[in-house]
This record gives sequence, C-alpha cells and structure tokens, in this order.
Amino acid sequence: MAQFNRREFGRALTAGITASTLGRLSRAQEDCTPPAGTPVDFVIPNLTNIPRKSVAELSADEVTRLRLAYQKLRDLTVSDPADPRGWMQQAHVHCWNCGGSDVDIHGSWTFLPWHRAYLYFHERILCKLLNDDSFRLPYWSWDNSNYRSLPDIYRPAKVGSAANSLYDASRSKEAVSGAAMDASIFPAAQNPMNSANFTAFGGDSQGGGSLEFGPHGAVHNWTGAPKDPFADMGNLLLAARDPIFYAHHCNIDQLWAEFNRLNPVAHANPTDAEFLTRSFQFFDENKQLVNIKVQDVLDTAPLGFSYRPGVKQSSPKPPRWTRLKYDPVTHLLQLPAPIPQSAIVPLRSLVVKAVKLPTKSGSYNVFVGNAPPAGADQSKAANYVGYIGIIVGPHGHEQRGSLVLNATNVFLQSAGGAGALLTFAPAGTTDGAALEFSSAYLTEE
Ligand code: C2O
Repeated sequence: MAQFNRREFGRALTAGITASTLGRLSRAQEDCTPPAGTPVDFVIPNLTNIPRKSVAELSADEVTRLRLAYQKLRDLTVSDPADPRGWMQQAHVHCWNCGGSDVDIHGSWTFLPWHRAYLYFHERILCKLLNDDSFRLPYWSWDNSNYRSLPDIYRPAKVGSAANSLYDASRSKEAVSGAAMDASIFPAAQNPMNSANFTAFGGDSQGGGSLEFGPHGAVHNWTGAPKDPFADMGNLLLAARDPIFYAHHCNIDQLWAEFNRLNPVAHANPTDAEFLTRSFQFFDENKQLVNIKVQDVLDTAPLGFSYRPGVKQSSPKPPRWTRLKYDPVTHLLQLPAPIPQSAIVPLRSLVVKAVKLPTKSGSYNVFVGNAPPAGADQSKAANYVGYIGIIVGPHGHEQRGSLVLNATNVFLQSAGGAGALLTFAPAGTTDGAALEFSSAYLTEE
C-alpha cells in the first residue's frame, strides 16, 4: 500500500485539506502509479465507422446494452482486480494522468487528444466484454439546453431489483434530483465553439483552452458536489469513478469534432511536431500496453466512431484579431473604443491568453472592474464577461489557460481608452482579485 509521501502531504496541507480527508485521499492515491511494461506502437485499426449517439437518442435496447457493458466492467474488477481493463483500473488511468503521477495531460493542448484516446480504449474494452463490436459510447449533450440535467438512465441506484451500473453515489443534490444546471454554465454569449482558433478552444503547449476551463470544469463541479472537493466528478483523481464521466468527455470530444468541422481552416488542429508526436500509453482490449500518438487520433473514422454533424455552420470568414494593450505589472487592459449603439454589433470576444487560473475546483465569474453585489445573479451584471470552470485534484498546481470571454456588452458600454482591470471571483461572491494573463485580443466575426 503506497503511503502518502511527505511532499504530497505538504501539498495537501497547503491546499487546505483537513486531517479527516487524508484517509480518503491516500486510498485514492494508492493505485495511481502509471503502468509498467513495454508498450507496442498503436496500429490504426480501420474499424467500421459507427456514429456515437447522444444519451437522449439511445433506444431501450441500447440503454440495456450500455448498462450491461458497465456491469461487466464492474464485475471484472471484482473477479480480477489486477486486470487492467476492469472498472477501477479504468478509473485509475485518469488518475495516472492528472497529477497522481508526474504526468498531467490537463491544462494544455494534450487535454483533447488524450481524452479521445482514453475513450477509444474504453470503448474497445466495452466492445470486447460485450462481445459486440457495434457498441459505441454515448455522449451527454449538455451543450443543448434540453439536456442540461444528469441523464435519467444514470440517476437511479437500482433498476428493478438490480444495481444500476451507471449509478454513482458521490454526486451533487442537483445532479441526483434531475434538476437542470444553471444556464450560465453554457450561455450562448460565452460559447467555446465561438473560439476563433484551436488555441483559444483547445489550448497550446503552455495552457489549456476555453472548452476545458469553461463548461468542462463547470459540468464536472456541478455533477460532483462542489462543497466536497473529494466527490467523484469534482475531483480529477476520482472523476472517472463515475460512469457519467465517460459520457461527459464523449461530449467534449463531440464538440471538438464539431469545432473542426465548422471551420476546417480557421479551426484546424495544431500541426506542430511537438503536438502530433506526443504519445500516451493505455492498455487495450487485449491487456496489451499500447503507445499512441496524438496524430493517431485526429481522424476518428478509422478508430470506429464519428459524430453526426450539427446543424449550425459558422461563417467561413476567419475572424479579425486585434491585440489589446495590457500592462503585466498593473494588470490594466486597454479597452477598445465603444461601438455606437446603432451599429450592427459583430460577435466580439475577448481572448485572454496564459491566464493564471485559480488552483481550487469551482466556478469563478469574470468581470471588467469589480464584482457586483453577491446574491444578485452576477451573470446578468453589465460588466460580466464570463466564467472559469476549474477542476483539480487534491494537490492542485498552478495552471495557465486561454479564456474566450464575451466582450459584446461590456465594450458597448465601456468608455474605451482608459485602462480597466479584469477581475475574477468565486461565483456568488465579491471576493475578487485581478486576473493575470500574458496578452489579450479582441476577435470579431
Ligand atoms: Cu481528465 Cu474531465 O478531466
């Protein structure tokens, strides 16, 4: 049994973790060792391309098959805890790669391709256990306002007299009750899908993108009780112990595919060799350790899955980027001149790069100037420009990321010219601090 080592203990204390949670933490840590073994190189399998569906589209038979798949995964953990394909071992794959070891694939451009590869192997393992090659993972389409609650099939602890394999006990009250999440989690005005390029959407080598530090983190925190940082979905070390994790990430993956499709030129994936050749290791459906590269997952069809295109098409014109003056010492940002009220307002986003992100899981609101009074719906304030959704493990380390904020209203009302401070505060508080970043741009579409 691995013990909590001194370095981690120190980090946990600085993160404000109390002694009573340490026991749970060390249990979570104990299997967080990356796998040993000699990997073989991944070979593109050229499987039959079957579109993944949203959870809401599954037929009754497909729901039964999904439940059977997760039941078999859970059974495997009981019959052979060492089998790398079993439920807990699958959950630990996430833990190996989120700071539970020296590796963290979050908070940079590896976030999207690593999770795509993870879901690919997860899906192959479920196909193998089901002995059914046509099984595909479903996605939880929380980007659609009709599906903003935890999908029904994941909610009950039991189905008839049997345990529901899609159930997890560590969820928030809202998730459990089937309540809809707050509309501010995926508002039309702050939609990462409107990011002008891949960096703003999915990050670069230095930091993560607006999808990761927006709805990704917010949905995690909403699902796993945010008041308890050790609830499954709200904690990176434990998140993959909730079956909804895979449907949540499948939606992240779906949004990535859709983002590429909407504007194949402006939204193209990075082509840097450092990105394409970055490799990760996973156990495949035959318990073989495999080395897979980012370039192996950029085209999903040969991996056996795809997503049906959404309806909306963005303008084929690339957006116009204007760099804004920013003083890294005073943190004052030079706002552009206001647009006259009568003018046709283009879609304006404020892209801030290499933002120093909060190190505690939670949702944070971002304002131009001070946070408005707590209690009121702060997202309705005239100076609200968006939010940051953060999920970290118990030893959250400093991360940087790009944020795409909604600049349309604020810039309409700003006086322009004068320097303004961007501030961020835990949602619902006035506890603001200056947002620190490296550069800011205004994009107009
Ligand atoms: Cu690997 Cu949603 O986090």
